[in-house]
Parts: sequence; C-alpha cells; structure tokens
Amino acid sequence: MQVFVNGKAHTVPQGVTVLQACELAGVLVPRFCYHDRLSIAGNCRMCLVEIEKDRKLQPSCAFPAGDGMRIWTETPAVKKGREGVLEHLLIHHPLDCPICDQGGECDLQDQAMVYGGDRGRYKEYKRAVEDKDSGPLIQMIMTRCIHCTRCVRFGSEIAGTGELGSTGRGTNLEIGFYVREKLFASELSGNVIDLCPVGALTSKPYSFMARPWELESTETIDLTDGIGSNVKMDSRFGVPMRIVPKLNEEINEEWITDKARFSYEGITNKRSFMPPEETASLVHSTHKCLALESKCAILSGNVSQETTGVISNYFENVVLEGPNPTGRNWNNTLFPIDFTSTFKCNTCIEDWESTKVDFILMVGVNPRLEGALLNARIRKRLKKGNCPVVSFGAPISTTYNVITAGTSAYSFMNFVEGRSSFCAGFKNAKNPIVLVGPSLFLREDGPAFFSMLQTLINVVPNLVTTMWNGLNYLQPHANSFGIMDQGVNQLGVVDNVQFKTMVQTFDATSDVPAIHITSHVSPEISDNTLVVPCALPAETGGTFVNTEGRSQYARKAVTNQRRVFHDKAILCSLVELNGYKDAVKEYVLGIPSKEKQNIDVQCKQHWYPKFNKTVVHNTPLRTWVDNYYDTDVVSKNSPSLSKVAKAYKKGIFGFKK
Ligand code: SF4
Ligand code: FES
Repeated sequence: MQVFVNGKAHTVPQGVTVLQACELAGVLVPRFCYHDRLSIAGNCRMCLVEIEKDRKLQPSCAFPAGDGMRIWTETPAVKKGREGVLEHLLIHHPLDCPICDQGGECDLQDQAMVYGGDRGRYKEYKRAVEDKDSGPLIQMIMTRCIHCTRCVRFGSEIAGTGELGSTGRGTNLEIGFYVREKLFASELSGNVIDLCPVGALTSKPYSFMARPWELESTETIDLTDGIGSNVKMDSRFGVPMRIVPKLNEEINEEWITDKARFSYEGITNKRSFMPPEETASLVHSTHKCLALESKCAILSGNVSQETTGVISNYFENVVLEGPNPTGRNWNNTLFPIDFTSTFKCNTCIEDWESTKVDFILMVGVNPRLEGALLNARIRKRLKKGNCPVVSFGAPISTTYNVITAGTSAYSFMNFVEGRSSFCAGFKNAKNPIVLVGPSLFLREDGPAFFSMLQTLINVVPNLVTTMWNGLNYLQPHANSFGIMDQGVNQLGVVDNVQFKTMVQTFDATSDVPAIHITSHVSPEISDNTLVVPCALPAETGGTFVNTEGRSQYARKAVTNQRRVFHDKAILCSLVELNGYKDAVKEYVLGIPSKEKQNIDVQCKQHWYPKFNKTVVHNTPLRTWVDNYYDTDVVSKNSPSLSKVAKAYKKGIFGFKK
C-alpha cells in the first residue's frame, strides 16, 4: 500500500503501524515505549504525528497505517505536542544526569535536546520513588523511571518470568516486583538495562565505572555457552568495562544472557600470573614429560580452534572435558564424531521459532540453563500455538509449559518403542524436533541413547529428511562443537596415563603429574600439577564454532595486562621442544548451511545399530548444569555472577532444575 510521509509517497507492507511506515520511509520518529521486539503499549505519547483528516495528534506506534494515508512528522503542531509530552515526563524526572550511568546514551537526554525547554514551569516538589533491590546485577533507581513499561513487557513477553509490573495509578504509579526485595529471576534479566530508555535500570557492576564516550568498543562473541551470541566488549585503557549485545538476527537477535553480559569481570579477577621468563623456563624444563609414551591432554570446551589444532596434531588421545564441573570427562567412547550432524544443533537457531516446527521433544536437557537464548526462541514458537513440548527428565522450570512425560531412562525407552501416549503426535508431526544435551552421553549407558535416537530417526519419518533435520544436540561450551569437529577423541578414561596436559579445564585436580595451562587460579589444584598461566581469548583472539556449526572469530578486545602467553604459544613451545613442527591450520569462518543435503544419509545409514534394552540403566535423566552462573572458568570468577550464584544456591532465585 502507499502512504505519504511529509508529502512524499512510499510503498509499505500491509499491517504496519504509522511509526513503522515512517521508519520504512526513512523518517525517524522519537519514541520511548515502542520497541521492535515488544508488544505495543502506546503509553509515552512521544511518537505523536499529524495524520490528515484527524483533528488530534496521534501516537504513531499504536496507529495502523492505511492506504493513501498522509502523515506529517515535522509540523509545528507535532513539535508542540512532543514538547508538551516531554515537559510532562520531565516534571518528575530528577535532574541528575551528571551522576547517572545512562548519561551520554540516554534517550530522554537526547530528546530533551530537541524538544525540551530551557526551564520548567513546575514549581511544586518532585515526587520521589523508593529504589528497589533486584540483586547484584541490576541497579534500580526508580525516581528516574518514565513508566514506558518496556522492562515489564520484556519480563512477561521475552524472559517469560512476569515478575516486573506496575502498581498504583497516576502520580503514584511505580514499576517494581510486587514483592518488596526480589531477585529478577531470569537468566536474561540484564537485557532490561539496554531496554530502559532512561537511567532507571542500569548495570550494577558498571556503576560509576566509565562514561560511554571513554569506551573503546570491539565486536566479538560470547564464550560462556554453546550459542555464540554476538556482543560488543567495551573497554577503557584496555580494561574490560562492560559487554553489550550486538544485533545478529540468526543467533541472539538483540538479547544476551546474564552470563554473557557480566562475565567480563572474570577476565581481570583471580588471574594466574607468572613472569614471562619463568613461564619460558618452566615450559623448557617440563617439555620432556610430553615425550612420555603414555600421555594425554584434556581440553575444556572453551579452548579455541587454533589451540585445539596444535594439541590434536601432537597427541594421539585428546580428551574433551565434559560439561560436568565436578570433573567427570566424557564417557562416550563411541561418540560418532565422523559425521557432524550427529553432534550438532541441526535446526538453525532462528528456525526454532518458525511455525513449521510442530513438536518439540527434550531428553535430559534444560534449555533454559544450557542455552538460554535457544530457550527464548522456543518460548517464541510456543506463543504462536500448536506446538507441544514434551520432556523426558527431571521436571524443569522453563518459561513455557512443558509436559513431563517421564523422568527415567526407561520412560524414554518406552517412548522410543512406541509405548507412550505422545508417540502418535510425534510420529505424525511434519517438522518435529528432538533436543538432547551432553548429560545423556555422560551416563554409563550413553551409547544406548545414541541407539535410541537412531531408532527414533528410523521410525519417525519426518524427523530427518532431505529437507529437514530435527535432531539437535545442544553443545555445552563455546567451542565444544569445533573441538569435536577436529576429530578429538572422546575417551572418558585414558588408561595408564603418566602425564596429563590440561588446558583451561574447569577441574584442576589430577591423579598423575600434570601441567595445567590456565588463565585463573584454582584453589583445588593438586600438588603434582604445575600451573602455567595463559591468556584468555578476549586478550588474544581465537576461532570458535557454536552448537549449530557456525564458526566465528572472537576478537582481541582487551589488553593482556599480565603479559601472560597465549595457550597456543605455550603448547607450540612444548611440542616444538619435542622436535615436532606443527603445521599451521587455517580455519575458515562459516555459517551453518541451510541446505540439508545428504543429512539423511549421514544420520540414517552411518550411526548406531538397534539398541540393547538390557544396557539401559533406569536412572533419572537430568541436565548437566548444577548452577547456571558457574559453568565456565570466566563466569565462575566474576564476583557479581558469584553473588547471584550464591543467592541461587540458597534458593532465592526460584529456579528448579
Ligand atoms: S524502569 Fe525503565 S524500562 Fe522500566 S518502565 Fe521505567 S523507564 Fe521504562
Ligand atoms: S512510542 Fe508511541 S506512545 Fe510511546
């Protein structure tokens, strides 16, 4: 349809609002409450425009555009109307910009420059609102709130927790938690900091740390889970100050998890340190240990592709450390790493919210804790209706309705063998999805689960076809997929090991002499272990592949303050001293292919034989995450996340596994 914005004709799609039509026409309309990804509230009235034949100014965000509509955004009446709105908003807004963390990136400040007056006409006392305490992450200074309700809508629509709300009317209106002191119980809570157009909700760890114009911003990726969200790391003088999201519609849209946002504190906290000369001499004196016959290396899932390349070329048996923070390694000797589709999230992350997905089956996984942004996509899909979510495993607290069909391995086996009331629905689904996590394959009977999944692929015709692959493996760490893709052996137990090389592992204990190449000090270190400090990817850069097989480069964003070596450089020195020259590997950055060619061949013909019932242990299925804020070394060392983790352990958080 055609609309006329400020006299110029533009073609816009049916169903857009006047504000969206103006945006499509390249005309900016000021707004506070409107946000592209939230429902329309229409309560701030900053977006007033003039529409032909309408006697009053109209809020453009809530007014549907019509064919032939004539809209004016810059008339004197519009300007006067917006000035009036702003004057009202500023009546109760404190004039504390010099001490407000939003200063310099505040929508209210910006718009006051255009529509604000140079003096107020309000002579009475300003109202004051008591600040709320929402925990260690979000600073709430509620006198600054302009009641746009973006945070409330984010809580109920995206995060799915619905704890924030408004109480009172008129001048007594307040945004809060209903219950007085309450943690914002969402792993996506930090996004309200970006959404709040004023300084009412700001980052607590970043309070009074820096001004936005002092920051140097680096586009990079989040390394705290297997999703690979795009972020910007802001630093001042090379010191990390904050992390904010970077828009990527295919992965994280414009949200990030709290771990992604606040883990930067762990980059500088409790770092292991050794002068470079001492590190060099330690490496020199210990290199012979690597020449021993029986040796192994244990990598965490957060090691970059480049570092993995060095070590996998040198060692015969390299073990990828499992996600279990207690140090249990992968026990999946038969893990089929020959075919990437067997250890990958085959359904692209953005497709999870598509209406074509009509059945979601989860087995021993809690996406809210293991991949919070994937969970947000599932929630979006469910809001569109007609998609049951059935889970096998301990009852989980997600942000949508999940039917728990069974808690034990036997219940899932019965489902696979067709003895469950959900079988018919799953079999008849056009685009079903199965989501499994690493916890299944950490079990003693892990291989049986591969066989059960193989059976599902064979009996559910639409699960894996040439056009659709609904088999999804949610990888736990930033580069778990990449490491497996490099063919690293997944040997849970490497027998007769005389020496271990551990790289960035969560668990620092070892039963045999070991080198632990690590960025952080660990209190649990064994006496027989030499610690070699190393740098983090944020200080050196590196390639990481997320759970859907998307390889991305994490840029160097901060200064390597302690001048510690890159883990790759340490390993290169060790292997070179043993006379081994590593061929430099190049990693091609790539996005996952939406072409699902030959996936059926991979999954259907080259996997597991029929499973043997007798090897299945009837033990409960559960997620591997014990504590959401404590799953990688950097997050674990972030003081703010540790405080939330403690609160969560005490049960204040209200999560259930
Ligand atoms: S706290 Fe911020 S986001 Fe929430 S209603 Fe107030 S101004 Fe809007
Ligand atoms: S942006 Fe339209 S009323 Fe707030």
